[in-house]
Amino acid sequence: MLAARNEVRPPIAIPVCPRIQSRLHLLRGPVKRIKAIYPGSFDPPTNGHLDLIERGSKIFDELVVAILRNPEKDPLFSVSDRRNMLEAMTSGFDNVTVETFDGLMVDYALSVGATAVLRGIRAISDYEYELQMALMNRKLQPGLETVFMMPAEKYSYLSSRLVREIAQLGGAIDCLVPELVAQKVREKMDPAHKFENVEQAERTAPEQKAERKSRSRKKKS
Ligand code: PNS
Repeated sequence: MLAARNEVRPPIAIPVCPRIQSRLHLLRGPVKRIKAIYPGSFDPPTNGHLDLIERGSKIFDELVVAILRNPEKDPLFSVSDRRNMLEAMTSGFDNVTVETFDGLMVDYALSVGATAVLRGIRAISDYEYELQMALMNRKLQPGLETVFMMPAEKYSYLSSRLVREIAQLGGAIDCLVPELVAQKVREKMDPAHKFENVEQAERTAPEQKAERKSRSRKKKS
């Protein structure tokens, strides 16, 4: 019977001898895997960063979130805190890892075998700085491509700097960062949150005060 015109037919299995089968990959050529780094300060990591990591993980084979170790900056979070937060945030992506680096970003990219750098552009205001950085990095390392991606519109006004500022002034940051980050930021801002329950903090605070008093008395005597 004649097959209908648009009928999808199952593929015909052609038997291939095992010797040829084992060499078929040579005809197709080597599989090119693209490894990218996503460098930044991530102080703290935000929902915007997570959005970009998710997008990057879909187009690159491997994505390394690379936290800059910058001794000149006075960050809110230590590098290891930021690393722990990012690791927890990205644990669901099997092609994403978190590392730290110092020195030139292009040197780090080269050292891990990355051929692309992922950066996010939220608005035109980001573009000038990002363009300058991308062109300078290209000058330093012509083999490294910068790939710009846009986070979801709802994150276009979001930045780590604003999250820090809002938190420092007592504003709510819950919709801006993942819950585990919000918790860590709250702990930073309010020492009482360092204790599992407030009662413990209340009990310990007077004890610490008494300790300080007795220390200063000893010093004077
Ligand atoms: O999250 P940020 O602060 O915008 O990230 C900036 C970062 C870390 C990507 C940039 O400062 C950087 O790459 N620093 C490493 C030093 C370097 O390579 N400088 C030359 C840039 S052209």
